[in-house]
Amino acid sequence: MENFNFHLPTKILFGKNKVNELGQEIKQYGSRVLLAYGGGSVKKTGLYDQVVEQLRNNDLFFVELSGIQPNPRITSVREGIRLCREHNLDFVLPIGGGSVIDAAKAIAAGVNYEGDAWDFPMQKAKVTNPLPLGTVLTLAATGSEMNGNAVITNEETQEKRGMGSDLLRPVFSVLDPTYTFTVNRYHTAAGTVDIMSHIFENYFAPGEGTFLQDSIAESILKTCIKYGPVALEEPENYEARANLLWAGSLALNGLTLTGKSMGDWATHGIEHEVSAIYDLTHGAGLAIIHPVWMRYVLDEKTAPKFAQMARNVWNINEADDMTAAEKGIEAVRNFFNSLDMPASLSDVDIPGDHFEEMAKKACIFGKIGSFKRLDVDDVVEILKRAL
Ligand code: NZQ
Ligand code: ZN
Repeated sequence: MENFNFHLPTKILFGKNKVNELGQEIKQYGSRVLLAYGGGSVKKTGLYDQVVEQLRNNDLFFVELSGIQPNPRITSVREGIRLCREHNLDFVLPIGGGSVIDAAKAIAAGVNYEGDAWDFPMQKAKVTNPLPLGTVLTLAATGSEMNGNAVITNEETQEKRGMGSDLLRPVFSVLDPTYTFTVNRYHTAAGTVDIMSHIFENYFAPGEGTFLQDSIAESILKTCIKYGPVALEEPENYEARANLLWAGSLALNGLTLTGKSMGDWATHGIEHEVSAIYDLTHGAGLAIIHPVWMRYVLDEKTAPKFAQMARNVWNINEADDMTAAEKGIEAVRNFFNSLDMPASLSDVDIPGDHFEEMAKKACIFGKIGSFKRLDVDDVVEILKRAL
């Protein structure tokens, strides 16, 4: 296990009616709020009204930014920055899923930065002096509620890129599982895949002696395998929604990466290029690509780790590592299929004509992946096998 520093500043307010603490929390950081949300799910569920009541009861001035789309666009980010500057806002409050939270992070980062906010994903600028933000999460998936990352799409250049800074970790996040009851079947499944995929990205990565972190990772995978199907069949099952919600936060808050120098993240890099062009739901893209990536990187060197997952997570009792690994990867694919997620790019009507372009963009900063290094040709081959 390698040395590490681990600092998790996000306060989690977990459980029913925790939104009632919202006003008191915000007041510790600011008094003029940008309230950001998506296409309207928060209005249908009643969360919007509860949040507005909290803001009013606590004398918090607020301005709204609505209509943030899934795969959030840089145009929404620019608009949010403009609103913050115009109204002199000092706190950002996204209520919604990962897309709304990610846009809010980029807004928070951009308000006190003189250049264009797209500079952050393009690695032309570092986040130095962001506004504080707190979140109310409504979808178990990205872990954005507890990490410092954001993924933004530039619709003009058809690029989707990540940005990150510990300074962008939310100061608090409200996680009330009842707000996730209304997430539909498709997004519940996609969210479950995303959580599992985050685990895979840090689990299938170089590093020795991380038994504890691997065991936590395996438990999070088992949680998704146990409760993902329950949430699909019984959307208002509190136990299932609560376990998935907390799994999502723990899967990508840095915990499972401790003691390792880096995760792999090639699959996410490839998926982001697909959804940048085709606006595919992130988790659906991962359901297609992650099993293909696993098969592609499987060799004598990587087989033992895949076999470990097969035995500890899927109860596959094969003595031979390669056989266990192959069966474990098959189990992942079958599980994603059982959630009605797509299994190939053809399933979601994505043709092969942009593969070269996607691969080049995925490798824009050089080779990707750490479990196995991948170049442009490798990425093209993975996309072909995903067709
Ligand atoms: O826009 P609204 O009306 O709110 O509807 C949303 C949206 O249509 C809906 N939804 C959310 N909560 C709901 C609900 N519908 C009913 N009831 C609720 N309680 O669900 C749809 C999808 O929402 P979105 O926020 O896009 O989903 P998700 O949380 O999966 O976020 C996906 C985005 O996050 C990025 C992805 O690439 C994608 O852009 N990621 C962010 C990461 C991070 N910040 O760490 C890491 C991830 O790997 C990922 O890349
Ligand atoms: Zn993801």
